[in-house]
Amino acid sequence: MGEITRPMPQFTSIFSWSLIRHIYTVRTTREEMEREEQRWASTAGFLAACVGSAVGLGNIWMFPYRAGKYGGGAFLAIYIFLLFIVGVTGLTMEWTLGRSRGGGPIKSFAVMPFGKYLGVLPTVTMFLILSFYSVVFAWILRFFVGSISGEIFRESFLNDIAFQPQSLIFCIIAISITTLIVMAGVKRGIERANLVMMPLLFVLLIILAIKSVTLPGAYRGVEFYLMPDLSEMNATTWLMALSQVFFSLSLAGGTMVVYGSYQSKNRDLTLSSVATSLSDTAVAIIAGLVVIPAVFAFGMEPGEGPELIFVTLPKVFASMRFGWIFAILFFFTLILATLSTAISLLEVCVNALCEHLKWRRKKATFLSALLTMASGSFLSVNENFFEFIVDLSSIYLVILGALMASIALMWFYGSKRARDELNRGGRIKFGRWWEVMGKYVYPAVLIVILLAAALFGIG
Ligand code: PHE
Repeated sequence: MGEITRPMPQFTSIFSWSLIRHIYTVRTTREEMEREEQRWASTAGFLAACVGSAVGLGNIWMFPYRAGKYGGGAFLAIYIFLLFIVGVTGLTMEWTLGRSRGGGPIKSFAVMPFGKYLGVLPTVTMFLILSFYSVVFAWILRFFVGSISGEIFRESFLNDIAFQPQSLIFCIIAISITTLIVMAGVKRGIERANLVMMPLLFVLLIILAIKSVTLPGAYRGVEFYLMPDLSEMNATTWLMALSQVFFSLSLAGGTMVVYGSYQSKNRDLTLSSVATSLSDTAVAIIAGLVVIPAVFAFGMEPGEGPELIFVTLPKVFASMRFGWIFAILFFFTLILATLSTAISLLEVCVNALCEHLKWRRKKATFLSALLTMASGSFLSVNENFFEFIVDLSSIYLVILGALMASIALMWFYGSKRARDELNRGGRIKFGRWWEVMGKYVYPAVLIVILLAAALFGIG
C-alpha cells in the first residue's frame, strides 16, 4: 500500500510546483513587459510628453485672456519672472519624487505620514481637471467643425453649443480620442503622439502669430502686450500670474510625478526642466501674440475674459481676408494642445488603478474613460457646476497638490538625498540653492497664494 501511494504526493508536488512556476514566469514576464512599456524610449520623448502636458488650455485659452484682463505686459513680466523661480524648482521636484519612489502620487506621497491617503487628492484633482477639460475640448472640436462649415461666424455660436445637449456627443468624441492614445501605452501611445503633435503645434502657432502681428493696426496690441505698465501691477496681478504658473506647468503633484516615474534613473531631469519651462512660456507668449494684436487690429477689447477666443476671435477671423483658413488652423492647434494635456491627465488615473488595484492597462483606461464621460457629460450641461469645478481644481487643488509634493520630497524624503537623485544623469547639476528654494521658498509661496486665494478669492 505504502509503496503504491508514496509516489503520488511527489508527483502532485512536482506537478503543482511546475505549474506555479509556469504561472509565475508568465506573470513576471507580463509584468516586466508592462513595466518596460511604462518607460520613455528617449529623453526627447519624455520632453515632448511633458511639454504636451504643460501646453494646454492654460496657455492658449487662459493666458491670453488673463493677460488681456490683468494688465497685459505687467502680467507677462511677472509671469516670466516667477516661471524661472518657481517653475524649474517645481518641475524638478515633482519628477524627482516620482522617479525616486517609482510611482504616482499615492505611492510617492507615502514617504510622509498619511501620505498614502493624501496622494489620492492629486489623483482626484487630475480627474476633475480632465472632466472640465473634456467639456472645453468638446467646444473646441465643435468650433473646429464650425470653422470648416462657417458656423462659427454666427454671433451666437458659443451660446448655441455651450452647455447644450448637442455638446455631449462632442464630449464623448473628445474623451474617446484621448482614451485610444492612452490605451496604446506610454511608449507607443503617449510618447509617439506627443513627438508628432508638439512640433506641429509650434509651427502652426508661429504661422498664426506672424499673421496676427502683421495685420494693420496690430502694433497697439503688441505694445499693450509686451510693454509692462508698472502702474498695472497690483496684488491681483501677482496672484493670478502665480497661480497661472502652477496650472500652466501642470505642477499639482499628479501628472509630473507620474511622468517623472517613467523616466530612467540615468537620464536627464535638470536640463529638461529648463527646456519644459521655456517651451511652455514660449507657447503662452506666442498664443498671446496670436490673440491680442489681432483683437486690437479690429478695434475690439482684449479684456473679454474666458470668451475671448470663442467670441471675440471668430469676429476677428470674420473680418480678416482668408480668415476662415486661419480659423481652421487656430482651432486645430487648440485641439493638439488640449489633447496632449488630456492624455496626461487620464494617464494619472490609469496609473493609479494599475499601480494600486493591479489592473491591466486596458481595463484601467476603459474604466477611467467611462468615469470621465459620466462626469464630463454632467458638467457639459451644468454651467454653474462647471465654473465651480474649474475654480476649485485649477486654482485651489492644484496649489494644494504642488505643496504636498514639495513637502513629501524635501521634508520627508530629504532635500540632500533628493538633490543627489535629481542630479543623477543630469546634463547640468543643481547646487544647494535648489534645496533652499524647494524646501523653504516654494512651499512658503504656495501657502501665501493659498491663503490669499481663500481670503480674497481669485479667479
Ligand atoms: N498644464 C495644463 C494647461 O496648461 C493643465 C494641467 C494642470 C494639466 C495640472 C495637468 C495638471 O492647460
